[in-house]
Amino acid sequence: MKQTISPYGGALKELFGTNTNALKGQAFDLPEWTLSQRQLCDVELLLCGAFSPLEGFMSQADYAGVVEHMRLADGTLWPMPITLDVSEAFAAGAQPGQRIALRDPEGLPIAFMEVSDRWVPDKAHEARCVLGSEDRAHPAAAYLFETAGAVYLGGRLTGITAPTHYDFKTLRYTPRQLREEFARRGWSRVVAFQTRNPMHRAHLELTFRAAQRVEANLLIHPVVGMTKPGDVDHYTRVRCYEHALRRFPEQTSMLSLLPLAMRMGGPREALWHAIIRRNYGCTHFIVGRDHASPGKDSQGREFYGPYDAHELLAAHRDEIGIEPVPFQAMVYVEERAEYVPVDEVEAGETVKSISGTELRRRLREGIDIPDWFTYPEIAAELRRTHPPRHRQGFTVFFTGLSGAGKSTLANALMVKLMETGGRPVTLLDGDIVRTHLSSELGFSREHRDLNVRRIGFVASEITKNGGVAICAPIAPYAATRRQVREMIEPVGGFVEVHVATPLDVCEERDRKGLYAKARAGLIKGFTGIDDPYESPVDPELRVDTSGLLPEQSIQRVLLKLEAMGFIAKPNG
Ligand code: PPS
Repeated sequence: MKQTISPYGGALKELFGTNTNALKGQAFDLPEWTLSQRQLCDVELLLCGAFSPLEGFMSQADYAGVVEHMRLADGTLWPMPITLDVSEAFAAGAQPGQRIALRDPEGLPIAFMEVSDRWVPDKAHEARCVLGSEDRAHPAAAYLFETAGAVYLGGRLTGITAPTHYDFKTLRYTPRQLREEFARRGWSRVVAFQTRNPMHRAHLELTFRAAQRVEANLLIHPVVGMTKPGDVDHYTRVRCYEHALRRFPEQTSMLSLLPLAMRMGGPREALWHAIIRRNYGCTHFIVGRDHASPGKDSQGREFYGPYDAHELLAAHRDEIGIEPVPFQAMVYVEERAEYVPVDEVEAGETVKSISGTELRRRLREGIDIPDWFTYPEIAAELRRTHPPRHRQGFTVFFTGLSGAGKSTLANALMVKLMETGGRPVTLLDGDIVRTHLSSELGFSREHRDLNVRRIGFVASEITKNGGVAICAPIAPYAATRRQVREMIEPVGGFVEVHVATPLDVCEERDRKGLYAKARAGLIKGFTGIDDPYESPVDPELRVDTSGLLPEQSIQRVLLKLEAMGFIAKPNG
């Protein structure tokens, strides 16, 4: 039988040491670095040989060559910097020549690194060369500037243990295991399909045609490490891939998961993806439209051209040794009732497609997802994790001055929602929180921030689990409120209600006598008196309770919740 394709660079660079127990013991005496999620993905793929010929995090010379012209110091084509970014404080204690231990977030030793290089990168230059932009709307640029440490360390790795995964264990093949599996199945021509999205009919048609075109078996090789923020979570996606696989002819296709941390680096990333797939034993690699595209920049322009990746792979085809299989976008042609590449559509034909944004809208609003777009079992799988809004959890976050009416509204809303039924409702009123969650805190800026972030954390957990959280702190600072929104929006609904009762009315009410004390100087740092309240600029709703009965104010909130889809209409 024909041999499988050789790894990139000639040999699979698996980096595990031999005596794991002894190695673990040694790790305890070394300076230790806790790997971030992205670094852990990189280490996992370095250790198993998916990044062959790399033998660790890049040296400064390799890094410089890769950034400037996509080449390691020895001339090998490699498009993506693979570097270990650390804090200045840690770097100060990690001298070149020293050994350090790399641990996962739970403290388990994963690998040793022989530090050979330590340098401060020019991040702006790296972003421009590698990503083509410094725009923070690019997730990798945002990571580089806002998350990555200031110093890079380079050096060879020796693996101690592979990072642990408890999910989908039988689908996680290493390059060696996948090569063995291909050999066992008698597959010598394998075309890989990279994806970070659920597979719909367009993807199935595309992969099916690609496999037919090059007469190869098909490997569906989705990324389950880190993808673009906001993507469908990998648990849901993998269940969708398993459904998709059943639609392929038996014996010709398989699914394996790739724990890669994507950079969304467009053409360079596509080249990197192809090299990785060669290491996994694939002979062909599908390159679609907008491969690994991060979408639009902050000016609304695409970061990369739709077919830039096709060109870059074609230019380096011989060198990477894995055959690119370029594909145009697939669209549904109504008259033919089939999918075709967009360049094969004939004049006068009706083309149909549903964008990712439109799909999310349909899921959110519980609108039909047509069969021509996806298979019913895949639509059902998506609906399980993306229920319509009236079945999602949400948070109503009342903010406003002391005495504005937040607690009254919050209590009334809780009762109304309990009367409606359907979801558990939790009230996180200021007093409740300051008794049970934040009893040790006062009213300094730091303490208020901590208090409001704690409320945000609890509300996000409630929301994630399908409940309703009603919060009613003063929450005077805009930045902290934004953090709370960012915690909650990815897991459900967030409705900010500014209880905008003017200060003079609140002071006039002075139900607790606190304004009088604050005016008299007996309480310091009182919101609205000698501590600021930063009014929300763009809340979902603003209610001034001064001229309204509580019942009228609460109706405004309920109507807003209904308009946003969180409360089902009578027939909803
Ligand atoms: S914050 O800023 O969001 O952490 O405040 P919160 O937890 O909502 O607590 C506000 C209630 O504490 C009382 N109180 C003060 N408020 C503002 N400033 C100062 N310095 C202060 N000291 C005590 C006040 O009664 C607030 O209650 P509400 O229900 O808002 O009137």
